Amino acid sequence: MKLVTLIGALVLSVAVVAAPQSRNDEDIEDLLPLAQSCDPTICTPPNCRCSSTTLDESIPHEQTPQLVMMTFDDAVTALNYEYIAEAFAGRRNPDNCPVAATFFVSHEYTDYSKVHSLWAQGHEIALHSITHTPSTEYWKSASVETMIAEFGDQRDMLAHFAAIDRDDIVGVRVPHLQLSGNNSFEAIRRFGGLYDCSWPTQNFVAPGMWPFTLDYTSTMDCPLGLCPTASIPGVWVMPMLDWIDTEGYMCAMVDTCPHLPADDVDETFEWMKENFLRIYNSNRAPFGVFLHSAWFLTRQSNYPAYKKFVDYMNSLDDVYLVSVSKAVEYTRNPRAVTGTSAVPPEIPLPEEEEVVPPQPQPQPQPQPQPQPQPDSAQESEQEVDDENSIEHEVEEEHDHEHDHDHEEHDHDHEEHEHSHEQEAEHEIPNIEPRRRFRRQSRPNQAFDQCQLTHENTCVPKLCQLTKVSTGEERWMTSCAPCPAVYPWLGNPLGLREVPQPEPEDK
Ligand SMILES: *[C@@H]1O[C@H](CO)[C@@H](O)[C@H](O)[C@H]1NC(C)=O
Ligand SMILES: [Zn+2]
Repeated sequence: MKLVTLIGALVLSVAVVAAPQSRNDEDIEDLLPLAQSCDPTICTPPNCRCSSTTLDESIPHEQTPQLVMMTFDDAVTALNYEYIAEAFAGRRNPDNCPVAATFFVSHEYTDYSKVHSLWAQGHEIALHSITHTPSTEYWKSASVETMIAEFGDQRDMLAHFAAIDRDDIVGVRVPHLQLSGNNSFEAIRRFGGLYDCSWPTQNFVAPGMWPFTLDYTSTMDCPLGLCPTASIPGVWVMPMLDWIDTEGYMCAMVDTCPHLPADDVDETFEWMKENFLRIYNSNRAPFGVFLHSAWFLTRQSNYPAYKKFVDYMNSLDDVYLVSVSKAVEYTRNPRAVTGTSAVPPEIPLPEEEEVVPPQPQPQPQPQPQPQPQPDSAQESEQEVDDENSIEHEVEEEHDHEHDHDHEEHDHDHEEHEHSHEQEAEHEIPNIEPRRRFRRQSRPNQAFDQCQLTHENTCVPKLCQLTKVSTGEERWMTSCAPCPAVYPWLGNPLGLREVPQPEPEDK
């Protein structure tokens, strides 16, 4: 009898103790709310979007800009930097903004001064983990804590060693595209990222799946495994629309397609174009050209074909080569774009980039509201004449150089000019004809503003360091002062660790 009472008391006390324990963080993490089905009348942009192949009923196909995301995975090195810089130098989109690519950077062997240069040119820098561990099992079973240590900490690492704005680093691609279900996305939510771009689709290629948030259940297929089922509000998924190779196999990364055409520039180019047109001619969901730059070296024709492909897409007046975060931005604020009056591809734009150094763009100014675009249709009607629009473009380039001269002497002046431009509608009498003319020469407005570029302020330092976990030597080029040890998981800034003997300084 007595024993029973004792056990009863024990059970009771365990229950009493257990109740408050279930409120600690670990248990809450296990109990993310299960996502419910998505109602597009409740889940609406800019902060929520159901998974769907329809962007916005009010925007017709031919007025949807085709956004193209050129991305590169893994270390940024002095060698691959040259290839990439050459492929994009001086290119502009139909809105006259510089084109941009996205770099999913892994830490080891990365040259941080080159990362800085890419960022300064307006490319997007995103996260691809500190360790880039080869084991897919590691990534599949990664906890939220591991994901934060690999990606959240890498954000601090990149911001520090590449001297770039931490807020600009918002994207994630998991190594091997191996998601860990809810954890991958919950980690992004917790460290304040914006999107993941590791989730391929085979079922929603043409028409393609537009980006969506994880507030509710998505309808997207999950070909590689461990996709999220919890509700993780505010985190965006940029679907990787699979390519199709010459034998009909689907591949998320261009360089993992098993069957390529012959090693011939034209044939490889035609195959890339075919993959592009599949989406361009369907619903124009953001189209990805996802690569490792090592692909440029695996066959003779790959790099020339790639450049020819970029030339081709860049010649179309409704195609925009933008960063992944810019494509998310557009999806959050979609708008119709009239793309019929841009410069025809046969006539090259003036090559001003060769002589004018990259121009720092003014800081984003709080704009009253994205201006409604009823005037854009009118503007484009005034520009049906191609010859005219060439003149406009040339005029604009001159204007640009002019601005630049002023900018060097007086930065305030530049800012004034910009606020004039924004208030154009209200202040027409005060604006010289030339400035109104410049506005009219921009019929394609997919975005409120161009991707920002920055002054290159990195003074590279070459650091000889020890990787503590293995004792190996690593060289690292940094914009920040050299760290004490090679930065790594758990020590992303390379601070001095306890048992480390003094390195011999040179
Ligand atoms: C994700 O979270 C949901 C809701 O808590 C849960 O049912 C599911 O098992 C989780 N999935 C994984 C892979 O952890
Ligand atoms: Zn990788």
